[in-house]
Amino acid sequence: MLNILAIDSSSAGSASVSRRLVDETVSALVAAAPGAAVVRRDLAADPVPHLTAATLAGVRGEPSSEAELAARALSDTLIAELEAADVLVLGAPMYNFSVPTVLRSWFDHVLRAGRTFRYTEAGPEGLLKGKRAIVIESRGGLYSAGPAQAIDFQEPYLRHLLGFMGVSDVRFVRAEKIGFGPEARAEAIAAAVAEIADIAEAVPVAA
Ligand SMILES: Cc1cc2nc3c(=O)[nH]c(=O)nc-3n(C[C@H](O)[C@H](O)[C@H](O)COP(=O)(O)O)c2cc1C
Repeated sequence: MLNILAIDSSSAGSASVSRRLVDETVSALVAAAPGAAVVRRDLAADPVPHLTAATLAGVRGEPSSEAELAARALSDTLIAELEAADVLVLGAPMYNFSVPTVLRSWFDHVLRAGRTFRYTEAGPEGLLKGKRAIVIESRGGLYSAGPAQAIDFQEPYLRHLLGFMGVSDVRFVRAEKIGFGPEARAEAIAAAVAEIADIAEAVPVAA
């Protein structure tokens, strides 16, 4: 059975392009792999807290206080969801040339030495092997070509963070020029939906 973890991070609610495309991706994957299990996490509705002294100690230190233990428990839960997933579907709007802070907080909680990566003599090694990720990138402008390529701090960052945990089989679906008017928006969404259908067909039914 295919296990899918779908994460949304847009604050735009039902107007969100990435949410619509995450839904589309989950539907296409489930159609390709009937019986797939889907776990959903909405980081806007249910945000992972930003790091504080307590949550930092909980995630990266030796937790002892109630707040530290709660942070450790949340980190454990988020990592367990990731470990259980064969496919991660990540909705990642571009906010200020990078990712929403709620998504950054999620990464702050799942990037944990000894759990999702480890340090070796040869350098860091990702521990989440054999997974696939489909990352939905919605952007107001155009970054895949032209002068703004150099200020795309979203895709290279996400590629690196996922790769750092060992998730190197990543497909990026870009819905660009969302801010260029209704026609450009509709075109971008239609192109993304077509790409998602192709990607979903190629995902094996069982991992
Ligand atoms: C806080 C915020 C910051 C944004 N920053 C950028 C940006 O740096 N570059 C860009 O092209 N679009 C930017 N946008 C536009 C969004 O990327 C675009 O609206 C996209 O559709 C958002 O994804 P969503 O529809 O899933 O919320 C920004 C939007 C918001 C709300």
